[in-house]
Amino acid sequence: MMEKETVLITGASSGIGKELAYHYAKDGYNIVMVARSLTKLTEIKNDLEKQYGGSVFVIQKDLSKESEIQEVYKLIKQNNMRVDILINNAGFGLFGEFLETDLEDELNMIDLNVKSLTYMTKLFLPDMIKQNKGGILNVASTAAFQPGPLMAVYYATKAYVLSFTEALENELKDTNITVSALCPGPTETGFSDRANLKESKLFKSGVMDVKTVAEIGYKGFKSGKTVIIPGLKNKILAGAVRFAPRTIITSIVRQMQERA
Ligand SMILES: NC(=O)c1ccc[n+]([C@@H]2O[C@H](COP(=O)([O-])OP(=O)(O)OC[C@H]3O[C@@H](n4cnc5c(N)ncnc54)[C@H](OP(=O)(O)O)[C@@H]3O)[C@@H](O)[C@H]2O)c1
Repeated sequence: MMEKETVLITGASSGIGKELAYHYAKDGYNIVMVARSLTKLTEIKNDLEKQYGGSVFVIQKDLSKESEIQEVYKLIKQNNMRVDILINNAGFGLFGEFLETDLEDELNMIDLNVKSLTYMTKLFLPDMIKQNKGGILNVASTAAFQPGPLMAVYYATKAYVLSFTEALENELKDTNITVSALCPGPTETGFSDRANLKESKLFKSGVMDVKTVAEIGYKGFKSGKTVIIPGLKNKILAGAVRFAPRTIITSIVRQMQERA
């Protein structure tokens, strides 16, 4: 019998990460879910095991802390698990003028969106290289394609995620390891509440359903696409920014993000 593969998903306690866990469980993978909320993770674990019968391992950690990232890796090793697919999904945003926003929140965001994603990749990639198989899916955003006034730090973190992913994909192109970036536009999850985005025009219309976004991400990654942009409108916008002067694009994003 073929050994079951394991997927580790960060930020699997809600939103896109949770929906991705359901896709992988349905597909017969063992699941490792990481987030801070143990109650939510345990509820999802119980439901996944009831519905699909596979093994689900829950790790409660704050990935904005370096020591806790190391503990995740240690726990995986102690339990004799091998991560075949790593999904770096945990992340958050913050809405507001940079002069007004909280520095601690923003540094924490950089630690989670940028540092933990890089750290997790550094830890888990060598094991994939040894097997010459596996995959890394990094959740970026359509925010990655241009600067984002009123969410300046968040957009910059996602530009990092996209750039890092495309470069890594190039470095690994002669291996059997798939590296992809999922770039959703506004999506109905807990994200907009945590980011204070309810005030912004961005989330007033054209918000995509989380199940649709996760399904497109799951299928796009499986088919080996490097950059996956869910939704026609998001694809068009991400493509259009390449053809207009950056200052104009930045002003348009500002208008789109303003308080309604
Ligand atoms: N929703 C959108 O409009 C949208 C658009 C583009 C990109 N994205 C990206 O999609 C990804 C997933 O977000 P989502 O929309 O699904 O939002 P979400 O529902 O708020 O999910 C965020 C997940 O990250 C986890 N998380 C947050 N801080 C963490 C920490 N310090 N350590 C470990 N886990 C942490 C949360 O769990 P706990 O709170 O339990 O820790 C939760 O499981 C993010 O990277 C986000 O930037 C979202």
